[in-house]
Amino acid sequence: MSGKHDSPQVRVADAAGIAAAAALLRGGGLVAVPTETVYGLAARADSADAVAAIYRAKGRPDFNPLIVHVPDLARAEELVMIDDRARKLAAAFWPGALTMVLPLRDGARIAPAVTAGLPTLALRCPAHPAMRALLEEGDLALAAPSANRSGGVSPTTAAHVVQSLGEQVPLVLDGGACAAGIESTIVALRADGSWQVLRPGPITEAQISAILGAPAGLVTSDRIEAPGQLASHYAPGKPVRLNAAAAHPDEFLIGFGPVAGAVSLSSAGDLAEAAARLYDCLHQAAGAAQPRIAIAPIPDEGIGIAINDRLRRAAV
Ligand code: TXA
Ligand code: MG
Repeated sequence: MSGKHDSPQVRVADAAGIAAAAALLRGGGLVAVPTETVYGLAARADSADAVAAIYRAKGRPDFNPLIVHVPDLARAEELVMIDDRARKLAAAFWPGALTMVLPLRDGARIAPAVTAGLPTLALRCPAHPAMRALLEEGDLALAAPSANRSGGVSPTTAAHVVQSLGEQVPLVLDGGACAAGIESTIVALRADGSWQVLRPGPITEAQISAILGAPAGLVTSDRIEAPGQLASHYAPGKPVRLNAAAAHPDEFLIGFGPVAGAVSLSSAGDLAEAAARLYDCLHQAAGAAQPRIAIAPIPDEGIGIAINDRLRRAAV
């Protein structure tokens, strides 16, 4: 499957829309799907051709592996080795915004391009009802990175997907604005018993520590293990200045709390609201008349850690 579509079809994620999406996916096609974190660009994970179409549509470097989405833990067990730690984390956080990196099972039906050759697989069980219905109905494990051009700002509405990928995607399933608004937390559970957060997200390291204990073991500088963590990412296409108390004349200011701005992540200073609005504000800033973007300081606590991680990369 490849090729361009004059304009993507945007369909409400009702029963008929989900059935149409499932049929397209079964046939090896691409569908942009809503999740509680960000919109994903989905394809069946067992088809090399379907997965290749994701990389093409995103313009994604092919060393960057994809997250696979499953409806439940039983489905995950068919693909990876689930140990005690994974079982505990799944019980606590699935369905939800936690991705676990686990050893790939021998003979798992996963196209090699999904893992980019790694012996591990990143797996997530999403909570969005439309995505859950699609996973059940399609009876497929779905590879789905965020539904944006590689390196660009992630999409939290169907309109963002259309703006970013346009004719690259035949069907966008519209499930409304994403509730969490920021990509899942990625945790690697290592064979030596250690674990590490590879990408901060809605589930904090403190929440994971509360279940697994401290992330014992050597913390190595293996950030490239999650290549989505490359320094420049989430780029709005304009210079970004962080920790701004006020706007310069040529800046579009994104506010937070007492810093008002042209738009605000959360005038109440609520970090969950700020995460949910982050990418929409960056999309607005990218489309604004001002040639530069400034962003108010965000407290580096809770989900604020994930927000600041994304902002630092947007500012590179
Ligand atoms: O919230 C999310 O996770 C969204 C929604 C659509 O589910 N998906 C998402 O996927 O953010 P993507 O492809 O944009 O980010 C995938 C991240 C990348 O940083 C990638 O390097 C990392 O997951 N990753 C995938 N497989 C991995 C593996 N085997 N080991 C380490 N990191 C891996
Ligand atoms: Mg992404």
